[in-house]
Amino acid sequence: MHSIYARINNFSAFLSSCILTLLGAIALSSFLFTANPQGDLSVLSVKVYPGNSRRQPGLSQEYTFVNFNISADLTPLFHWNTKQLFLYLQAEYTDAKGVRNDVVIWDRIVRRKEEAVINVVGRNKYVFRDISHSFKNVPPANYSLQYNLMPHVGVLTYGEAGRTTEPVPFPPAQDFVSR
Ligand SMILES: *[C@@H]1O[C@H](CO)[C@@H](O)[C@H](O)[C@H]1NC(C)=O
Ligand SMILES: *[C@@H]1O[C@H](CO)[C@@H](O)[C@H](O)[C@H]1NC(C)=O
Repeated sequence: MHSIYARINNFSAFLSSCILTLLGAIALSSFLFTANPQGDLSVLSVKVYPGNSRRQPGLSQEYTFVNFNISADLTPLFHWNTKQLFLYLQAEYTDAKGVRNDVVIWDRIVRRKEEAVINVVGRNKYVFRDISHSFKNVPPANYSLQYNLMPHVGVLTYGEAGRTTEPVPFPPAQDFVSR
């Protein structure tokens, strides 16, 4: 009785170490995939409009609207250990006080390889404003397409799949009427 129990115990220890080794191998093998697909990202237009802050009535707040064009084939990132991809467009700028900011203005979750060819002409999905309430004297921004790859097994990996070639200036704020 005791020996059967010990054998089962040994066997299950053996089995779990096999599984751990296998999972480890899967996780490690993901590092062998060095796919680094590069797409095109261009900013079609940037407009800044003054508005009123909803949180602090009476305070004027500038909002930036970015029209962009993303074309990227991210299918090489889909391999057997890819669960999903979190894709986001980031505005990178240094504010008037010299503080560096990375602001996510658009994102998408890609769950299937069939959806990994990205062609989006669109506008920021999230509000883009600066903590100082203004984009006056803010130097030009770069925009980049970033991704997080979530694997079935192993750690999250990060990458960049596109970037604007030239910094894009913030125009002076314009009134809605002069649009
Ligand atoms: C978006 O970019 C793609 C590839 O660079 C280009 O073929 C397409 O014409 C662009 N669309 C717009 C609306 O600029
Ligand atoms: C934007 O990119 C240019 C060229 O790579 C770089 O010199 C500049 O510092 C970048 N600006 C910001 C705000 O990251």
